[in-house]
Amino acid sequence: MRSDVRGYADAMNVLVVNGPNLRRLGTREPEKYGSTTHDELAVLVTQWGADLQLEVEVRQSDDEADLVHWMHECVDAQTHVVLNPAAFTHYSYALRDACALVSTAGLTLVEVHLTNPHAREEFRHTSVISGVASGTIAGFGVDSYRLALEAVARRVG
Ligand code: DQA
Repeated sequence: MRSDVRGYADAMNVLVVNGPNLRRLGTREPEKYGSTTHDELAVLVTQWGADLQLEVEVRQSDDEADLVHWMHECVDAQTHVVLNPAAFTHYSYALRDACALVSTAGLTLVEVHLTNPHAREEFRHTSVISGVASGTIAGFGVDSYRLALEAVARRVG
């Protein structure tokens, strides 16, 4: 809990993590992922979090090790997670194991996707993350993040 100048004395911490290629939002296949940039998404997500009394930080990395280390950080800091694992969704057992640490620590971890992977290529139909997530929200564009934050707020509020 922080009681600093940001004024979220009772706010719950949530880390929003975006995986590989999501820094390119806005220009990456906009017909699928929309025109909102990653910076714009970060502003929206932070504001939605504040509306829900959640203190939100947004990070992005193309590097699997960063995502694994950030999950460890969340366990140590008792921070809930909203995770878009991007392509790691489909094959990263290392990230899955790190997410399992978050869930078994009693924290909420919501898997999010902008698109609905089940309506896309077959390799996207498998998520190795879903089995260790609290739940999954997919297919609503940037609204997937808002719904995920609402889920966190309801579970932990
Ligand atoms: C994604 C879906 C993944 O299959 C893809 O690799 C991504 C983005 C989504 O948000 O829809 O990078 O996670």
